[in-house]
Amino acid sequence: MISTSILSIKEDIEENIKKLDDTKTTFMHIDVMDGIFVSNNSMSYDVYENLLKDVKTPLDVHLMVSDVKKYIDLYKNINPVIITFHYEAVDNQIEIIEYIKSFNIKAGMAIKPDTKVEEIMDILPYLDLVLVMSVEPGYGHQEFIYDSPVKINELDKIRKEKNYAYLIEVDGGVNDITAKLCNNADIIVSGSFITDSTSYDEQIQKLKKTLD
Ligand code: DX5
Ligand code: ZN
Repeated sequence: MISTSILSIKEDIEENIKKLDDTKTTFMHIDVMDGIFVSNNSMSYDVYENLLKDVKTPLDVHLMVSDVKKYIDLYKNINPVIITFHYEAVDNQIEIIEYIKSFNIKAGMAIKPDTKVEEIMDILPYLDLVLVMSVEPGYGHQEFIYDSPVKINELDKIRKEKNYAYLIEVDGGVNDITAKLCNNADIIVSGSFITDSTSYDEQIQKLKKTLD
């Protein structure tokens, strides 16, 4: 599955979101940043809500924020299929997971490049999705970190051994070359590789080919 990040669409946003909505992307990936958990800021909730109100593609919300609950309360209102928060942002991860699930939304948890899979072992059985960050969160257009597939493969091995149900998602620097290294991930997030191009369809097709 492909989740297209709209973070790097800077011009004609409304029109380009409509264009993306007509492609075969599985999800639209919505990056939310608060200037605290990461130094960058994203558009405000009201702007996102307005931009996304007519979108038919399922939404995959990625919260890169410190005050996780506050942002869940906001973003649950755009009816996302998935809300993902960062492991590093809170101490009460399981409570947050249950909170997201209480709205009938899939609960995802992201880990930054320096966070090891070992650290999240106790949380894994509660999760619908684990997001492996393959760049430092905060910005688009960064280089894929080549250690990331090791974590993806580890998570895949654990879920098979323990019969856990979580999906694996990877986010950051994913293009038609680096996607090949992530074949054990279920959802590939890709931003600039798709949205810097004039043909979103063509880029999505290229990614799909590498995943077949
Ligand atoms: C980074 C974001 C990513 C980013 C991906 O903090 O979480 O979703 O937009 O963009 P590319 O594909 O350009 O790395
Ligand atoms: Zn993201």
